[in-house]
Amino acid sequence: MGCAISGLAAKAEFGERNTEDAAAAAHPSEGQIQMIKDSWKVIRDDIAKVGIIMFVRLFETHPECKDVFFLFRDVEDLERLRTSRELRAHGLRVMSFIEKSVARLDHLDRLEALALELGKSHYHYNAPPKYYSYVGAEFICAVQPILKERWTAELEEAWKVSSMLLVSLLMWVLIRDLSQQPVLGKRLMKQA
Ligand code: HEM
Repeated sequence: MGCAISGLAAKAEFGERNTEDAAAAAHPSEGQIQMIKDSWKVIRDDIAKVGIIMFVRLFETHPECKDVFFLFRDVEDLERLRTSRELRAHGLRVMSFIEKSVARLDHLDRLEALALELGKSHYHYNAPPKYYSYVGAEFICAVQPILKERWTAELEEAWKVSSMLLVSLLMWVLIRDLSQQPVLGKRLMKQA
């Protein structure tokens, strides 16, 4: 699969986080936000492709994630998904969310509100919060080949910090709802 932070390595890079991590998650610097916004202009020309690559990779590296999707759980041959209209549509919905997140990176209150909305819908999908870090890692692996020579160590770091922030916010919403505790409550869900 040719991406260092894919699959198992994602755990080390993205960590298996809890709400305290979410509160302490690093925020991208102004320079990093600008890099993300510039690179998004290139990525958005290929968002349908990125969405499909990201989900096929996610289902390859973490087949347990596929079981959460009613539409895809019975698909055995992942290659078939590369031409699936349903996966394309789903990927585009996720990419459109990422686009909104990129636009809000310098307005953290608005980013948090967006994560709250998504967290609420995802609470009902019953996916353990750690699955979200897998998505963050596969997103980075999917955009790397799209950006080709524009991909640098600095840009990778900027995307990692930004994805971790978003993923941490989502996990925070999910863990808080799952544990019915205030954000920084002590009784955190251990499986998260
Ligand atoms: C950063 C991570 C993620 C983002 C940005 C994201 C985004 C989205 C968006 C925008 C939708 C469309 C409708 C809605 O708002 O509910 C959606 C649907 C969905 N997501 Fe996610 N998602 C993420 C992670 C996950 C994970 C980890 C799972 C489970 C493994 C998951 C499972 C689902 C399911 C089951 C649906 C409904 C699909 C359908 O309509 O058939 N998502 N997601």
